[in-house]
Amino acid sequence: MKMAGIEKVAVLGGGLIGSSWATNFLWKGLKVNIYDISYKQISTAGNRVRVNLEYLVSKGILTQERMDSALAHATYTSSLEEAVTDVQFIQESVLENYEVKQSVLAEVDKYAPADAVFASSTSGLLITEISKNSKRPDRCLGAHPYNPPHLIPLVEISKGQKTSEDTVRRACDFYKSLGKEPIVLQKEALGFIANRLSMALYREAVDLVVRGVCSVEDVDKAVNFGPGLRYALMGPNLIYQLGGGLHGIEGLLKHVENSVELWWEDMATWKKWPPGWYETAREGVNREMANRSPEQGRNTEEITRWRDDGLIEILKLLKKI
Ligand SMILES: NC(=O)c1ccc[n+]([C@@H]2O[C@H](COP(=O)([O-])OP(=O)(O)OC[C@H]3O[C@@H](n4cnc5c(N)ncnc54)[C@H](O)[C@@H]3O)[C@@H](O)[C@H]2O)c1
Repeated sequence: MKMAGIEKVAVLGGGLIGSSWATNFLWKGLKVNIYDISYKQISTAGNRVRVNLEYLVSKGILTQERMDSALAHATYTSSLEEAVTDVQFIQESVLENYEVKQSVLAEVDKYAPADAVFASSTSGLLITEISKNSKRPDRCLGAHPYNPPHLIPLVEISKGQKTSEDTVRRACDFYKSLGKEPIVLQKEALGFIANRLSMALYREAVDLVVRGVCSVEDVDKAVNFGPGLRYALMGPNLIYQLGGGLHGIEGLLKHVENSVELWWEDMATWKKWPPGWYETAREGVNREMANRSPEQGRNTEEITRWRDDGLIEILKLLKKI
């Protein structure tokens, strides 16, 4: 099958994100080459992709027949040359490190067709820096997914100084054809949009626990049972529009202005994790997991499955699956 002119994709890096991207591309009927430097990771990726596809079958999203065909369309390789030589699109998901991504891109330059798009899953590195030594920086862009990419629609597209508009258009068309929601950043920004927002929230979450205002578990409850429910349906601006009633967002912002300015004065400004935070977070999360019901899952694997069940219900509601 072809999606927006793309028939074959290379996924570079078969870790958590690479396996999930591979699942997504295979599920939509594309041929996929999955490359990793580690044989162990190649084998893990094969298992992950199979489990992900079987899960989609179990949820009635994919037929058994289409799953069999998807599995037959996957090629696993430890040769980067083999992975990229005949593809139209490359989704790089190797380690989050400039040197590693630059060295992988140097190999891509050698072996990939000149017009294949190079899309990096980087969580927040700059594409200008990743592609600074590339012979083809015009075909490089950042395409940051949210975990798990095969279920979450957002893809943040970031352009480097030399990324061509044609590359951006082709990448957006491709992701849209898969049912994704690409957003193009108007200028480069470390951490892009969603991770900056997530980490702004998380910095405050850390601070509230460190100050002794609440536990790790209660921070999670506050997000989960409050704003998180609305965030699944709309973003903060639209939320405040509704919060302002007849006066809309402007009315709400004026109404809370004095109060919010006092909070902002008092809010977290950490530039590094506070001392001891790793231990506090680990112990808090362990306690939170132990307090969950068996139906909600009590370990990472069970909770991941519970999360994916919930994501699928939300995606159905949003008509995104
Ligand atoms: N984990 C997340 O939630 C998340 C979300 C969005 C984006 N990302 C980004 O996706 C990328 C991959 O993250 P991940 O969580 O899958 O990491 P991961 O550690 O699970 O996987 C990375 C993979 O890259 C492989 N690798 C390392 N060096 C390589 C090389 N030179 N050539 C080929 N493969 C190599 C490793 O063997 C490993 O399989 C990173 O850039 C990360 O920032 C991660």
